[in-house]
Amino acid sequence: MQKLKVKGKNILSGEIKISGSKNATLPILAASILSEKKIDLKRVPIVKDVVTMCHLLKYMGSNIKINSQKKNILINNKNKKFKNIAPYSFVKTMRAGVIVLGSLLARFGKAKVSLPGGCAIGTRPVDIHLYGLKRLGAKIKIKNGYIFAEAKKGLTGAQIKFPSISVGATENVIIAASLASGITYLKNCACEPEIKNLTDFLNKMGANISWLGKREIKIMGCKKFNHVSHQVMFDRIEAGTFIIAGALIGKKLKISGIQTRFLNTEIKILRKMGVRMQISKDHIYILHSPKIKPVKIKTEPYPGFPTDLQAQMIVLMTKAKGKSQIKENIFENRFMHVPELNRMGAKINTLGNLSYVEGPQNLNGAEVMATDLRASVSLVLAGLIANNQTIINRVYHLDRGYEDLEKKLRQCKAKISRIF
Ligand code: EPZ
Repeated sequence: MQKLKVKGKNILSGEIKISGSKNATLPILAASILSEKKIDLKRVPIVKDVVTMCHLLKYMGSNIKINSQKKNILINNKNKKFKNIAPYSFVKTMRAGVIVLGSLLARFGKAKVSLPGGCAIGTRPVDIHLYGLKRLGAKIKIKNGYIFAEAKKGLTGAQIKFPSISVGATENVIIAASLASGITYLKNCACEPEIKNLTDFLNKMGANISWLGKREIKIMGCKKFNHVSHQVMFDRIEAGTFIIAGALIGKKLKISGIQTRFLNTEIKILRKMGVRMQISKDHIYILHSPKIKPVKIKTEPYPGFPTDLQAQMIVLMTKAKGKSQIKENIFENRFMHVPELNRMGAKINTLGNLSYVEGPQNLNGAEVMATDLRASVSLVLAGLIANNQTIINRVYHLDRGYEDLEKKLRQCKAKISRIF
């Protein structure tokens, strides 16, 4: 199994160009099933989850080509016969595979999709997805670990208020409603920028989707689509990860290719912590920030502080002078990085969904274990500031969602390499 070796205490300077968003690309790929017309996706991150989603689409019958050099994906489903099945072998490693349910159901009236099953960070249920699809008229039953969904006469627009906020469920239902007959009104939607990028893509394709309010969407079902070329938005979480790297040990580190308007909450909190930044519309300079102050924050759905930056923020809290606190409100088991960070000398105490971090605490290099995508990158961040060397095991978690991580960091003078 591959490992990462990180030598600590090297000041980061230079520029990191942020890749396209994994969490925008995945639902857009799922939505590609709706159309027979050509689709050209640009600025796609070539990461494991995106490749897995492409393999799933190919398995189902999609004519899909990835150009890793150009970071683009070409899809042409003209006259393609589709298998409307998403097998466990794909969905078990990439839960977002369940988002093909909405498009298979809308296009073919029938779908068999594996239940995603849980993962390290939580049980990952899909009850809200199924609730929304049933409201559109789907008949759904669960058997042998699969979702069997049917809509013999097609889906019908409906008024749907989500019982709680779910990114994936919102995406699944938007995609399904795009081909339903009549109008769908969604309330209590997730409103992450990645979902707006999905609706932009669908509208370019010929759908008729409008945001009526922060969490309210109107979807007029359409029957045919056009060719579409779409640039995926920047990866907000990758950007936040590298901004925190700069806050930890950067000196004039430039993070470019971003839209800072989608990072307002993160920027406000980092400023409150004493992180020195120069903010422009499409890039941020992080300056040397010697005095980090403690904060008390909680993770929330967008526009709140994202759960996907919780692990990275905890590493920054170890440098703060005093006691910080972070409350994880989204997932039930998302502190698995804490024991590993404590093995590096951090002083973090976790009680239920609250973690208390005492600082400033010098970290020491150690051999550590990655447990999930964002936990693994928090161990890389810890390695960057720790004394001596840190070895991070199970790097495959990292490869699911970070494109060229080592290369980007090495270009900014980090001492990081992969051990095969
Ligand atoms: C998306 O996951 C992201 N994944 C996650 O990023 C992200 O952490 C999460 O949204 C929250 O922002 C992708 O976009 C591919 P949810 P998703 O449905 O859609 C519960 C990463 O690191 N829930 O908003 O699965 C659920 O258990 C990944 O890139 C139900 O109870 O998240 C969780 O507690 C990790 N029933 C909460 O809602 C449902 O039917 C939020 O989940 C669906 C969700």
